[in-house]
Amino acid sequence: MPGFTPILNLTFLEISYIYNLSKNGYKVDKEKILVTSALPYANGPIHLGHLSGAYLPADIYVRYHRSKGSDIIYICGSDEHGVPITITADKENVKPQEIIDRYHNINKEAFNKFGMSFDIYSRTSLKTHHENAQKFFKVFHDQDLLIEKKTFQFYDEKAKMFLPDRYVEGTCPKCGYEEARSDECEKCGSLYDPSELKNPKSKVTGETPKLKETSHWYFPLGKFQERIEKYVDQMHAEYKWKDNVLKYCKGWFKEGLGDRAITRDLDWGVKVPLDNAEGKVIYVWFEAVLGYISATIELSKQKGEPDFWRKYWQDQQTKYVAFIGKDNIVFHTIIFQAILLAWNDVNDDKFILPQNVPANEFLNFEGKKFSKSRGWGIDVIDFLKLFPADPLRYTLAANLPENKDTDFYWKEFQSKNNDELADILGNFINRTFTFVHKNFDAEVPKREKLEQIDSEMLELLKSYPKKVGDLIENYKIKEATLEIMNLARAANKYFNDSQPWKTIKNDKAVCATTLNICLQTIYSLAQLFSPVIPASSDKIFKMLNAEPTNWYSVDGDNLKAGHKLNKAEILFNKIEDEQIEKQINKLGIVEGVVEADEEIAIEDFAKIKLKVAEVVAAENIKKSEKLLKLKVRIAEEERQVIAGIAKDYKPEQLIGKKVIIVSNLKPAKLFGNESQGMILAADYGDGVKVIEVDSSVPTGSKVK
Ligand code: 2FM
Ligand code: ZN
Repeated sequence: MPGFTPILNLTFLEISYIYNLSKNGYKVDKEKILVTSALPYANGPIHLGHLSGAYLPADIYVRYHRSKGSDIIYICGSDEHGVPITITADKENVKPQEIIDRYHNINKEAFNKFGMSFDIYSRTSLKTHHENAQKFFKVFHDQDLLIEKKTFQFYDEKAKMFLPDRYVEGTCPKCGYEEARSDECEKCGSLYDPSELKNPKSKVTGETPKLKETSHWYFPLGKFQERIEKYVDQMHAEYKWKDNVLKYCKGWFKEGLGDRAITRDLDWGVKVPLDNAEGKVIYVWFEAVLGYISATIELSKQKGEPDFWRKYWQDQQTKYVAFIGKDNIVFHTIIFQAILLAWNDVNDDKFILPQNVPANEFLNFEGKKFSKSRGWGIDVIDFLKLFPADPLRYTLAANLPENKDTDFYWKEFQSKNNDELADILGNFINRTFTFVHKNFDAEVPKREKLEQIDSEMLELLKSYPKKVGDLIENYKIKEATLEIMNLARAANKYFNDSQPWKTIKNDKAVCATTLNICLQTIYSLAQLFSPVIPASSDKIFKMLNAEPTNWYSVDGDNLKAGHKLNKAEILFNKIEDEQIEKQINKLGIVEGVVEADEEIAIEDFAKIKLKVAEVVAAENIKKSEKLLKLKVRIAEEERQVIAGIAKDYKPEQLIGKKVIIVSNLKPAKLFGNESQGMILAADYGDGVKVIEVDSSVPTGSKVK
């Protein structure tokens, strides 16, 4: 390995399993890394935006590090407490337990299908977590760190509960907005005391709630401000935190950290472990961050090694990276740190703090925010019923919102799959395999003489692990992904420029060299792409009849001459326009909800002439899967209409139906057939249904 100093007589591969070799060849201890991704609330299915924020980048980072030989664990799980979950449960009139069981399982399966490689996907409803969070609370309480304060809060007499902020609505005392929250108005942005809210209503019962005295425990964040500021500065200086994260922290510091209530009056959550705390739970954000530790403890239990978690959380050599979306920054850069520092102040077993918190911005969907209620976006579990995970992983990775919000577009997904995965990567692999199977008996040919073009390609291969590895280690995962595809582009160019179809005839040694290098390149691509598209990478290794190696051993010399290859497999299927259009048509359709459309004047509508017609004949159109040729009768007149409904109707199903036709549409030619009108049909995304009129209505009747 050029650039690396050989140690004893071991091969690079053997060495790298023992040590991590730093970029410049110095031997360092195997890096120990702890990675967490935000624990998603188990109150709904995760969508593509979640993946781009905190999950896919982390998974790529982790898979890369495993390939490099780092000692790394990756922790995640469901966040199963908090008001969002009780709200969902109330809406459905079921117990919160039912909600969390449902969505924990759905999300676990979705992550699994997406190829997430967590070491554990735990849940905060487990006993392990409740005990862990209570232990922290108790320690803080017993050292007199927490401050008990009395406050007034809305209480619903009928539901017999204190109402969290989001359960109370009323009129803003400042601007008169009628849907203001108990202490904050979304419209004018003002904050006020709940006693000032006019006409308060409980969202649980609709009753007028009363302000009632209650007491809560507060955590004095301010006490830790100085140390946390120093920590943030130091981490940024050494590890270059992202600008968005840094800015956000600075904003909080400037405001000044004060006391924050860390308990709530609620019966769903981790109970406050004190005698005088009936009906009180620990505030969800306070315990959720501790959920990372609990999940690692749970993993240790599963492994039968109770202290396993300490090797990561309590070894000062461990590097901890917390992947999150931008809405979670304060909890992972300030609040979690304060909790850990407070623990470390009074305990001998001290926790490490995150070295980096690479928060991503948001992924939007076709130009708008994801919105379940407006039918905008797609859940991961549904997406993976339609398409395999790897094209999605690649599309999202190539478009990560690392520095600004980005969008998912269906058309772009199609082109990433068809034009890049299939036509660049798949095509290179396919043409190489076809050539070697045909001309070299499915064996890796010998590299005999290197021309300049070959040496250049080999140099490129050697440069790639470090190039991509450095990008991933610096959380530039989008750029890393684009670079790997660039290697596949270069590979196609190398194949073209080398013209093996010519050299096979006049210089077999040159041809053999070309194909040897093409196969080494496929090996490199399989390894380099393994963090991004792991399932496809596995397939490629299988085709090569080879195993992955250490990331930094990928050097253009990984397959021996004479090595037997397996048959080629199809790696990426093309996605048809229709499959994509179907998904685009579904957008914005929600049962019971009407999308607001642009308004038109009645005169505009009056221009469209709609009439009742009867279908009298129908037949398929040759070579078209979509179109039917219909004959319809409008009173005395007969017309030919070409309708795009062949997927949903057989011709004979339509005969005799009374339908509505746009009768003044300019005739158009479709597949060589004239269409003299248009039949109205409802498009519900998965198909269409023609709009039928009662058989008693005479044809020719106007529809208004
Ligand atoms: O935003 C969310 O979905 C939160 N449930 C994230 C929690 S991250 C950590 F604190 F557990
Ligand atoms: Zn207001």
